[in-house]
Amino acid sequence: MLCSLLEPAAVFADVGCDHGYCTEYMLKNSLCSRAIFSDISRGSLAKAERLLSPYIREGRAEGRLGDGLRCAPGADEVLIAGMGGREIVGILSDENYGYLPEKFLFQPMHDAELLRRYLVGAGAFLERDFTFRDGKFYDVVKGRRLREGEPPQDYSSAEYAFGRENLRERPKAFLERTEKQLREVEGYLSVPGLGERSREELLVRKKKLEGVLKNAAE
Ligand SMILES: C[S@@+](CC[C@H](N)C(=O)[O-])C[C@H]1O[C@@H](n2cnc3c(N)ncnc32)[C@H](O)[C@@H]1O
Repeated sequence: MLCSLLEPAAVFADVGCDHGYCTEYMLKNSLCSRAIFSDISRGSLAKAERLLSPYIREGRAEGRLGDGLRCAPGADEVLIAGMGGREIVGILSDENYGYLPEKFLFQPMHDAELLRRYLVGAGAFLERDFTFRDGKFYDVVKGRRLREGEPPQDYSSAEYAFGRENLRERPKAFLERTEKQLREVEGYLSVPGLGERSREELLVRKKKLEGVLKNAAE
């Protein structure tokens, strides 16, 4: 799924590459002139270096060990997949090395709302913003920098929380996850001795999830 969402790029960066599969896809399909793949873990980077060794020898790919965008200054497309939304925001907003890439594809494992809010506030245009299922459920946020004179997107609270595309297009995976979340909340609500504050919070969450399923999210 992630590979199918990647755009052609001059310099593609795969931050937190682990095995390096997405970088391999970009290079194999000649979708970028150059690729930088990086990881904070030496062991992960070594896996990608093994997989990508033919491209490294050709001078089309370079592996770098280190934190976030420090390893990828000036890439025009950045992929960050498999980290928390908070970690992704931390990488983009790092005061020394952070930047909003011209094109990006992010797959936050959690805190997708935080990431959407940061991106829209930082001048990004979110082109795709949906949930898919591959065994587990995954959120994906694909976008680009706003063009000159282009107005910022007006995301509602529900769109930040659940994803604009999810609410408009209602993909199957998103509805299945919402149903699962609703069952979980109902399960917590039936636990004996639940504190009043927890009950109130869970009831608010339940109402929101029911609103999504009735196609009436606020
Ligand atoms: C769950 S793996 C995901 C790998 C790959 N992106 C994918 O989606 O299949 C997350 C990877 O991010 C790396 N990582 C975590 N924090 C990082 C950071 N701040 N900078 C670079 N890499 C990081 C981890 O070492 C790990 O290899």
